[in-house]
This record gives sequence, structure tokens and C-alpha cells, in this order.
Amino acid sequence: MTHVIDGNAVADRIRDDVQNCVTALEDEGVTPGLATVLMSDDPASETYVSMKQRACDELGIEGIHRKLEPEASADDLLETVIELDGDPTVHGILLQMPVPDHVDGTNALRHVDPLKDVDGFHPENVGRLVAGDPRYKPCTPHGIQKLLEAADVDTDGSDVVIVGRSEIVGKPIANLLIQKAPGGNATVTVCHSRTNALAEKTRQADIVVAAAGVPELVDGSMIGAGAVVIDVGVNRIDAETEKGYELVGDVEFDSAREKASVITPVPGGVGPMTIAMLLYNTVAAASIQTG
Ligand code: GUN
Repeated sequence: MTHVIDGNAVADRIRDDVQNCVTALEDEGVTPGLATVLMSDDPASETYVSMKQRACDELGIEGIHRKLEPEASADDLLETVIELDGDPTVHGILLQMPVPDHVDGTNALRHVDPLKDVDGFHPENVGRLVAGDPRYKPCTPHGIQKLLEAADVDTDGSDVVIVGRSEIVGKPIANLLIQKAPGGNATVTVCHSRTNALAEKTRQADIVVAAAGVPELVDGSMIGAGAVVIDVGVNRIDAETEKGYELVGDVEFDSAREKASVITPVPGGVGPMTIAMLLYNTVAAASIQTG
């Protein structure tokens, strides 16, 4: 029987831990604060940011939101980031990606104090992760590690194939999984749109992480018997539903499930973990800055 991981249940347990940390901080007179910055009209990005803000409300984290029009300038974005960075009630700053092509998101992040960079995207924090000494682990990759742990999947010595080389998922999860640390010690292959014979590579893997942003790219024929399949994709495809779309992952769930021993669904797999780990990093950031 294939184990379908319940990401909501794992995320709820992490949220309980975060809630305890919020209470402990409150006892010391500190309310953790998270600022989100959205420079986009993309409905999916708007939904993610509002889910992050709602999660803050639910846990007693002070949420601050700044919306910039997609036509705003790079200077407008810098001004917003710099203002939030100087606000002592803001312990975490999240710039929702992607930002429009005419602004440089990485440059904007350089103006965030690395201690407030709860996404782990500031170059200093990326460097620390690569060097094996992460300050804040990037939220989605960290969430994947927690899901593997919750499903009793031992990464030590396993062969992992990651499909996707993004800064947000592919590269950081590769770095976490090769670390000499619990939840690491894996042998990692990072595949992408220029990879030859992708299916041959994924079929050899003990663990496949699909994070390419391509709907149902990975199907059952690309999965080895008994492999673990982690689907990071959240793709909106047109459908005759109430909302006019449905969400599908980067994995063709039904055919992959037939081969896998463990698999994450979309929705309800990796997605809830990204938010849970953001809240986790935010309370960590508040303790570091006030401790
Ligand atoms: N866009 C997609 N995922 C993420 C994320 O984890 N953080 C930010 N800031 N933007 C994203």
C-alpha cells in the first residue's frame, strides 16, 4: 500500500510547536512580526501571501503587508524593503517571488538584514546553507525534510533525483540533502530542462523531488518500484470548476502512486509545510533579534 503523506497533519504539528514559541515570546513581552511584500497581480501569488498573513493571525504573529503595483519601480521596492528593515517590530521580511522582470529581487534582498531574511534567500544566508551552516533553512526545502522525517524515510545513503534547479526549491533542497546531518547524507542529482534521458535518471532514484513547475511532468513510467515521490508543483490548469481552474502537481499522481511506496498529494502535501516553516523561521528570527 502506498503511503500518501498528509502534509496538513504534519504542518499542524509544526504550527503547534510554533504556537508554544509565540506564547513564550509573549511572556517576555515580544510579539513576533512578519512583513510580506507583494509586487505582483498574479492571483496565485496573491493567494499565497494572504494564506501567509492568515496563518500569522491564527498564531498571534503580527502580520504586516505591503502591496506594490507591478509597474512600480525598483526604487519603490527598495524603499519599502528598507523601511521594513528599519522597523524593530518586524522580525521577518518576505518578498514574494517572482517579482516583475524590470526589478532585481536578489538586489532588493541584499537590503534586508540577513537576520530578518526568513526565506533564507539573502546571499549571506544562501552562502551559509551551501557552507553547511544554515541560519534559516529555506521554507519549502525544510518542509520537505520534515515530511520525509515524518514518513520515516531515511535519506542517509539514498539516491535522490531532483527535477528543477530553482533558487527557491531545487538548489536549496539539493544542499540540504547532501549535508552531513540528520535528514541529509544523500547522493543528489539535480536535473532540469536541459537534462538528457530524464526518465532514466528518475527511475534509478530512491527519492524523486519534482520541482520543475511543469504540470504532471513526472508520470508513473518515470518512477522506480517502491520509490518516494515528493511533488512540489502547484500548477493552475483550466478546468470547469467553480474557480475555473484546478491544481495539479508536477507529478501525475495516479500513475506515480501505483509505483511509489510514499507520495505527497497536491494540494495537501508540500504546500502547507512551506507556510508552517515560514512561521517557524519567523519565531526563530524574533528570538535571535530579541534574545
Ligand atoms: N514564491 C514561491 N515560493 C516562495 C517562497 O517560499 N517564498 C517566497 N518569498 N516566494 C515564493
